Amino acid sequence: MRLDRKERPFFAVEGKPGPTQIEGALTHYYRNSLKNCALHVPTHATILAFCPVRLPSWSGRTALPHSYMLQIFSDPLSIAEYVSDTLIDRIQAKPDVVLGLATGGTMEPIYARFVDEARQSNLDVSRLTSFNLDEYIGLRPDHPKSYSAYMRDHLFQHLEFDAARLHVPDGMAQDLAAHCKAYAARLRECGGIDLQLLGVGGNGHIGFNEPGTAFDCPCHVVELAEQTRIDNSRFFAKGAIVPGSAITMGLAEIMEAREILLVATGESKAQIVADRYQGGVTEAIPFTVLKRHPRATIILDEAAASLLPVDAL
Ligand code: GLP
Repeated sequence: MRLDRKERPFFAVEGKPGPTQIEGALTHYYRNSLKNCALHVPTHATILAFCPVRLPSWSGRTALPHSYMLQIFSDPLSIAEYVSDTLIDRIQAKPDVVLGLATGGTMEPIYARFVDEARQSNLDVSRLTSFNLDEYIGLRPDHPKSYSAYMRDHLFQHLEFDAARLHVPDGMAQDLAAHCKAYAARLRECGGIDLQLLGVGGNGHIGFNEPGTAFDCPCHVVELAEQTRIDNSRFFAKGAIVPGSAITMGLAEIMEAREILLVATGESKAQIVADRYQGGVTEAIPFTVLKRHPRATIILDEAAASLLPVDAL
């Protein structure tokens, strides 16, 4: 059964829900087999989990160790539909919204879906502002593997954006430190980010904030971790050298976003998702910082959720 955006159900659990309330909401979801519905629970609640696939083993169990919202979809296309709908809702509600945008394979189906839906609904994107998370140092904006080119190819060239409102760090800036400061200052001038999209690296990086980055670190230059360069080599020609450094928005700017959607898909993300879930908040896994954010949702497909330690709860 597939629901369109208007029909999609929305469960709200008020206050600090106990196991019975949570179980009730999940059971309702499970019985109806509704895809793409959201369980919204206040962030101070004990249980902020949503895992219909494994409901039987979750029933009657109590708390997740940390407050956060988790949504699990069957596959990346269902996620694309959900995230695209969320983007459209936020843009319709606030046409001059400030978006934080991410790159990577995870975002490709999301942008493709968004472009299709935005065209069909004649969505006005001309007043929105965007800030990309990061860019490789040493790649010109017209280099096919730069994140500028990625954004142009997957999103910017397909809709009537105002180019002056689209920001991507400049990996060719002469004075990189000054550029980072100016990028962060421009973001502040624009009022900060309303909705931030995030992917996650296999080592838990967000943007290019590698393990060990201080949580209060602003936009900065980063030496990329070896694993990141290996992971991202799949986007470069065989034998090409993956840049060793990048500019990235810091965890400080990311955490100031008023709403965050982090998306992880595929088996390659299952281990880091499980590590984040089990562990505390640690700079060794940058995306654990989102446990401290009041409105961050972790969106997984079943493959990325496959190592979540349900039985350990
Ligand atoms: C890159 C980007 C990140 C992105 C990550 C995951 O390193 N800098 O912002 O989240 O890759 O990429 P993918 O979606 O391709 O797995």
